[in-house]
Amino acid sequence: MSSEPSAATAPVLEARHIVKTYGGVTALDDVTFEARAGHVHCLAGENGCGKSTLIKIISGVERPDSGSIVIDGEEYGHLTPAEAIRAGVQVIYQDFSLFPNLSVAENIVLTAQVADRKRLFSAGSTRPRAQAIVDELGLDIDLDARVESLSVANRQLTAICRALISDAKVIFMDEPTTALTRTEVSSLFALVERLRERNVALVFVTHKLEEALQVSQDLTILRSGSLVVTGPASDFDRRSVTKHMTGRDVIESRHLNDYDATAAPRLSVEGLTLSGAFRDVSFEVRPGEILGVTGLLGSGRSEIVESLFGIYPAGSGTVRVDGRQVRLHSITDAIDAGFGYVPSDRLTEGLCLDKSIADNTISASLDRHRRWGIFTDRGKVASTIDRFFTALRIKAPDVSAPVRSLSGGNAQRVVLAKWLANDPRVLMLNGPTVGVDVGSKEEILDILRAQATRGMSIVVVSDDVPELVSVCHRVLVVRRGRVTHEIAGDDVTAPAIESGLAA
Ligand SMILES: Nc1ncnc2c1ncn2[C@@H]1O[C@H](COP(=O)(O)OP(=O)(O)OP(=O)(O)O)[C@@H](O)[C@H]1O
Ligand SMILES: [Mg+2]
Repeated sequence: MSSEPSAATAPVLEARHIVKTYGGVTALDDVTFEARAGHVHCLAGENGCGKSTLIKIISGVERPDSGSIVIDGEEYGHLTPAEAIRAGVQVIYQDFSLFPNLSVAENIVLTAQVADRKRLFSAGSTRPRAQAIVDELGLDIDLDARVESLSVANRQLTAICRALISDAKVIFMDEPTTALTRTEVSSLFALVERLRERNVALVFVTHKLEEALQVSQDLTILRSGSLVVTGPASDFDRRSVTKHMTGRDVIESRHLNDYDATAAPRLSVEGLTLSGAFRDVSFEVRPGEILGVTGLLGSGRSEIVESLFGIYPAGSGTVRVDGRQVRLHSITDAIDAGFGYVPSDRLTEGLCLDKSIADNTISASLDRHRRWGIFTDRGKVASTIDRFFTALRIKAPDVSAPVRSLSGGNAQRVVLAKWLANDPRVLMLNGPTVGVDVGSKEEILDILRAQATRGMSIVVVSDDVPELVSVCHRVLVVRRGRVTHEIAGDDVTAPAIESGLAA
């Protein structure tokens, strides 16, 4: 790692002995955490271990039950969001909290002016201030573009510039690389080096352990709300981090369920084309088979399943389910034809946040839970909800908890429960374990194997290569809207998939 600041640097931020409970749930139990200027600090741990809660307390969004926060020598029992910003704490959330219909320049400068308590922002001072920060960081971004027209990576850059213009001393980033292409991840990490040179302290929350170890100097691991270990990142590797997170050794290896490769196909797709997205896509999936679909971000990999789910109806091609041709002009068509879909963006596409875990779990399958086609069978509903709550090990006091109160990874499990409960003939999942901790990934993949064994056909869209190798009988690689490689059986290895992606 370049330009290593001395380990003796005093922390710019300390959270001391933080305790936070929600009703009966202890989200943080006496957690102490430090961030140092010019360091990247990785905050890791299983879903629901308290990472986001710690960020919320430091940024003034939540109030701790006890403990204190020290920023630049000043001690606070708790902070308001405005105090946190003035003290130099900035959080870049996954949705970036930008104003989509304002320009990049306006977004960069706006919050700084609100925090400075300036009532009006004049167009005259906005652009030069934004330009200065963009130049200083050497970024190539159009200041006049409206934020809604930007790529995810450029939105993130806008949020980083906005943080810096508010004199951020500590920047928290919650899973910053999930929606970025590989090139974008490299440019983000290059920018992180520049931020370190400016003596900013960065805190990364991530489930991508390789990336975390590559970019961090310090590492802290939480488990069930408690601090497990903290120290220099160079003292850890993927295996030791995983062990500290989960308390056990996690084995990630190829392990396939059996299925009848001679059975008639459950799903046959022929010549499927959606102009501007993908062309002439053909494949078959048998009952019990798990098919992987991979490709770089923007390759068309997601559009293929979104089209099969009726979100973007294809322009041409035929789709058959159990030999019968189906029309997929809408999501209702797709569900009627036997498809289920777990989207990648769980928070906007998959769930009703104010409703309970129970209501969300059953929301796609009420029709399957009726007696004589009319009355909802309450007993059956309750047993389905309990079954998936237990099988997916959703961390919540009980099934009546609102989804809004769940951690990110646990919300993802509810989306899975919802579609598994509907027992579709073909289940398509986009990034099924994005945001899920390494320990739980294998458990979720095991559930997919179990469903496949019962005869479900499964399509997994993913760019997580170890995950594809672990669970898929066959993998299709998509490039520029076409299937360029089909890898099957013993040929499904990480190097084979990587080379397909790079070809
Ligand atoms: N508003 C709330 N009401 C009730 N419980 C909550 C609330 N917010 C968080 N929790 C609980 O606190 C615990 C910690 O959640 P937190 O969101 O901090 O986890 P996390 O480490 O960020 O997990 P993930 O990796 O899944 O994002 C979880 O058990 C969660 O359900
Ligand atoms: Mg979280």
